[in-house]
Amino acid sequence: MVVARRGAKAGTVRGGIAARGPGNDSSGVVAKSAVIGAGAMGHGIGEVLARAYPEVWLYDPDAATLERAVALIRESVERLERHGLIDAQAAREAPTRVHTTTDLDLAVAGAGFVIEAAPEDLPTKQELFADLDRLAPADAVLATNSSSFTLAEVTKQVREPRLTLVVGSHFFLPAQIVPLVEVSRGAATGDEAFEATYALWERCGKAPIRVRHDVSGYVANRLQRALMREALAQLAEGSASAEDIDRAVRFGFGLRFLVRGPLAQRDVAGLGLASRIQTNPDDRERLDAGRRYLLDLAAAGHLGLAAGRGLLDWHGADPEEIRRTGDEALARAAALLFASE
Ligand SMILES: NC(=O)c1ccc[n+]([C@@H]2O[C@H](COP(=O)([O-])OP(=O)(O)OC[C@H]3O[C@@H](n4cnc5c(N)ncnc54)[C@H](O)[C@@H]3O)[C@@H](O)[C@H]2O)c1
Repeated sequence: MVVARRGAKAGTVRGGIAARGPGNDSSGVVAKSAVIGAGAMGHGIGEVLARAYPEVWLYDPDAATLERAVALIRESVERLERHGLIDAQAAREAPTRVHTTTDLDLAVAGAGFVIEAAPEDLPTKQELFADLDRLAPADAVLATNSSSFTLAEVTKQVREPRLTLVVGSHFFLPAQIVPLVEVSRGAATGDEAFEATYALWERCGKAPIRVRHDVSGYVANRLQRALMREALAQLAEGSASAEDIDRAVRFGFGLRFLVRGPLAQRDVAGLGLASRIQTNPDDRERLDAGRRYLLDLAAAGHLGLAAGRGLLDWHGADPEEIRRTGDEALARAAALLFASE
């Protein structure tokens, strides 16, 4: 990996994946891609792209973040190879394909695909997209990894005809391990850009889904939020300890979800029972109490792992060690998931 090095092709390669422009081969390989923001998500997304594509640029205004990104990518490819998620060649080559820079112009010059993973702040993202619209090649697809803003909000300052080339591409932490990528489209997104982005992530070994509408939270975050609302409600009413509520998910239906999603699971069990279960009229009140429980903890400074306490007690835990052991376990689980497909 090279820090702030001008790639031989930078500024000259054309490579819009939607346009299948010069610089792409016939299967739509994007010659150069760029990831904007190299924090928790960005380095993982860069690594994913580098498994399949020859030249990936990571941009971040903070040089120390870029250095850490490079170290994390090296650590990660070794782990993924050890768990059989990538082969030895990909593990060897991926890090050499990643270039880093604090110069946005350099990062996106000649890129066919650009994905933004900057902080979740709307004005920052809107300004960034105005810059990307101006700096990136006219046929480049621009994607956002925003968790909560719609594509319409993030691309408010993007002008026609680029609007046909904007897509959502939403990853899950850690992006280099969790297979899902939610590919979404806005009102003006063209079919070609949408499908080319889906194919791009498939080529990287990810498991994309198509989100047909531009909605906040895509599909998976809205599902997660529904579960979180109920988990907090149960915690607030004292049904069980935080540890036991988590065990109920991990050792109960969470395991089944590795094999079958909730809708297929419902069909397998039969719809008869589900149709007899009544909605609890007190649900609104319970869910509000759960939300208040979380807000009270946050207001008291109990913000989770980094603060030593949140919904659970993390006193004495080392966040870096928790990240590393979590990634290790997730890589093992991902290998099992792919083996059972
Ligand atoms: N963390 C998650 O679990 C998660 C999951 C899915 C999606 N996301 C989304 O991904 C995006 C990035 O989240 P993160 O957790 O990686 O945040 P982060 O804070 O770890 O990383 C953001 C990076 O962007 C850089 N940055 C600051 N200003 C910038 C600018 N103007 N242009 C480009 N980069 C800039 C920062 O230096 C930082 O390194 C957010 O939109 C977030 O909602 C996060």
